[in-house]
This record gives sequence, structure tokens and C-alpha cells, in this order.
Amino acid sequence: MVGIDFGKPLFTSEEIQRKIHELGARISADYAEKDVLVVGVLKGALFFMADLLRALRISVRMDFIHCTSSASKGAGGHPVQILADIHEDIKGKHVLLVEDIVDSGVTVDFIKRRLLDRGPASLKVCVLLDKAARRTVQIEADYAGFRIPNKYVVGYGLDYEDRYRNLPYIAVLPLDERQG
Ligand code: IMP
Ligand code: MG
Repeated sequence: MVGIDFGKPLFTSEEIQRKIHELGARISADYAEKDVLVVGVLKGALFFMADLLRALRISVRMDFIHCTSSASKGAGGHPVQILADIHEDIKGKHVLLVEDIVDSGVTVDFIKRRLLDRGPASLKVCVLLDKAARRTVQIEADYAGFRIPNKYVVGYGLDYEDRYRNLPYIAVLPLDERQG
């Protein structure tokens, strides 16, 4: 499909969908009767967001925030950059932030602080993948799909240099595909 042999997926499409349905059920129960604004972090959360929203059985609206992830790519601790901010006024609203992966924690921590400054009624974080061993900022997702080892993964929204997001499964990027 993309000219690289990724070997055995870390998580198949079916495993991802099963996990998302578990998360969807938990989130739906926790937010029953509440109106939720789900904020996806582009671009990585695109597919997760789309599938998670369809697994929710509550009233939701959606918005997006587009961030760079330079902080996680060993770029010497550059601050996170917001390329496009959310459009909604979140004051007094229940906000659920949806991200593909929490690695060092810098990105989620940064976005969380920015959103908290605007006075939401509540703010929770849902991530598909949690690379807990890499954390440099103390942050825990309220909902986390899979805990993964310290390996660079691609697929289902996750990229390496903006490629491989469209893989329907999640795989470890073969070492010889990584430059630098
Ligand atoms: P953090 O700020 O270090 O937590 O990094 C979060 C961001 O880094 C995510 O939004 C991803 O875009 C990116 N990232 C971290 N680990 C991986 C990975 O294994 N594969 C693809 N992207 C990753
Ligand atoms: Mg990302």
C-alpha cells in the first residue's frame, strides 16, 4: 500500500475499533445528560476523532485545534505552535480534548492550559495511545486507549514526516525508514 513492509501491526483495525467502542461507552456514561464539545487535535487525531464521535451516545458538538508537534520530535524543546485555534467560545462548556498520542506530554499540557484559561465548565483528555515511559511533563489522560512501549508508531492518523497517516492499522515504524 505505501511501499514499506511494516510487518505485524501493533494494533489491527479491529483492535482499534474495539478499543474505541470501550472508550465511547465509558465517555457516554460519564457525560450522560451533558452537552459536550469534543475538540480534536489536528492532524493526528483525525481518524480517532471520527470513529470516537460515532461511538458516543451523547449530544456532542465538535471543533478542532491544529498544532505542530515539534516538541516531541527531538527538535530541542521548541514550544508547541498553534496553527489554527478552535472557533468555539468554551466558557462554561464541557470540553473533551481528543489527541492521537501522549508522548512527552508537552503538547497536551500546553493545549490544556490554553483551554483552561478560557473557563470551561470541565476539561478532560482522551488519547488513543499513551507512551507513559517518555513523559517529561506530569500529565495523565482521563481516557487512554492503549499504553505502548517506547517505539515510534505510525498509522491511523499517526505520521512520520506527515506520511503513513492513512494506514488503517498502527505499526512500529521500521528503523531504516527514520532519518536523523
Ligand atoms: P508530546 O508533546 O511529546 O506528548 O507529543 C505529542 C505529539 O507528538 C503527538 O501529537 C504526535 O503528533 C507526536 N508523536 C509522539 N510520538 C509519536 C509516535 O510514536 N508516532 C507519531 N507521532 C508521535
Ligand atoms: Mg499530533
